[in-house]
Amino acid sequence: MRRVYLDNNATTPVLPAVLEAMRPCFGEHFGNASSIHHHGQETRAAVERARESVAALLGCRASEIVFTSGGTEGDNLAISGLTCAGDHLISSTIEHHAVLNSCKHLESMGCEVTYVPVDGRGLVDPDDVLRALRPSTKLITIMMANNETGVLQPVEEIGKIAAEADVYFHTDAVQAAGKVPIEVNRLGCDLLSISGHKLHAPQGVGAIYVRKGTILQPMFYGGSHERSRRAGTENVPGIIGLGKAAELAREALERGDLKRMSAMRDGIEQTILSEVEATGVNGEGAPRVPNTTNIHFDYIEGEALVIALDLKGLAVSTGAACSSGAIEPSHVLTAMGLPPEIARASLRFSLGKQNSGEDIEFALSLVPQTVARLRELSPVYNKTAVSS
Ligand SMILES: Cc1ncc(COP(=O)(O)O)c(C=O)c1O
Repeated sequence: MRRVYLDNNATTPVLPAVLEAMRPCFGEHFGNASSIHHHGQETRAAVERARESVAALLGCRASEIVFTSGGTEGDNLAISGLTCAGDHLISSTIEHHAVLNSCKHLESMGCEVTYVPVDGRGLVDPDDVLRALRPSTKLITIMMANNETGVLQPVEEIGKIAAEADVYFHTDAVQAAGKVPIEVNRLGCDLLSISGHKLHAPQGVGAIYVRKGTILQPMFYGGSHERSRRAGTENVPGIIGLGKAAELAREALERGDLKRMSAMRDGIEQTILSEVEATGVNGEGAPRVPNTTNIHFDYIEGEALVIALDLKGLAVSTGAACSSGAIEPSHVLTAMGLPPEIARASLRFSLGKQNSGEDIEFALSLVPQTVARLRELSPVYNKTAVSS
């Protein structure tokens, strides 16, 4: 059975070149990067090369990169590493749960958090961030690209506001890294988190950019790994994989390879919107990463459509992987003002480097007929059709 994977915002397959780069770690290059003998130094050199590659992707110094276990750890480290009871934070209503639940935890520890809203396109208004500032504001944490809609937030403007107010600025760039150019100095952020498995490196590795001079309270206590910012023996294969993936992502961005991906994404939208009635793009009109589209198919349950498409070989999603199966509609889509039934009727298609034009044709050969079949079974759709 043919299977096509269009759920790359949940995770991406490890690229063959990334796997090749990691392979020696499972054989001859097994040393501990903290050991002073040959084996250790060989590993240390490989880790430092990976650090250079990640720094090059983000436009920072290698010494400003801390390797983590992924996006969740990076977000937690940035948010709880900077704040203490009594501090005020500014975040948004559409953040990933790695940020939202870190903020909730801090609220329970005596911090106050303002969650700025988004408009109908899913965009934060920088003026809302400005208005939310207080003398006690310590940190602004607003994501660069949303995982469900792909909408890119005005992070440069927010960075300027943070700098003028002398407040730290963290951005969760997990869904932006490798999809749009990132230059930390242009963004004006002090901290930025990325995750390996969203850019064709393995799951369980990530990195955080920490601007020179920023003092972070570590989350783990142990050895002085990662300049005492993240204790624990490094995930060397993962780090080397992330380094290779960062290198490939930077080259692809420089070559303009992602134009092909955005053309495929636009093709999905155009075909679905023209062939399937009562559909629309969530986040339309806002700047978006090139690989993501989130489309609502009114009168059906997104979960039912995901399952029906999966049975035919197409993997897509209703949004955040961790909330699949949850009855609650997406907090991102409802924050954009979508009624719960439209939020529940929404599907995310997210492309990766491995996807071809044939994959898109396959997806488009399935979606319209599957939607039509589910709508035939939908009493809501039938009633509407009868009454109109
Ligand atoms: C925007 C965003 N932030 C954070 C995360 C968490 O990253 P990880 O899975 O590496 O912990 C994700 C994962 O979906 C994400 O999309």
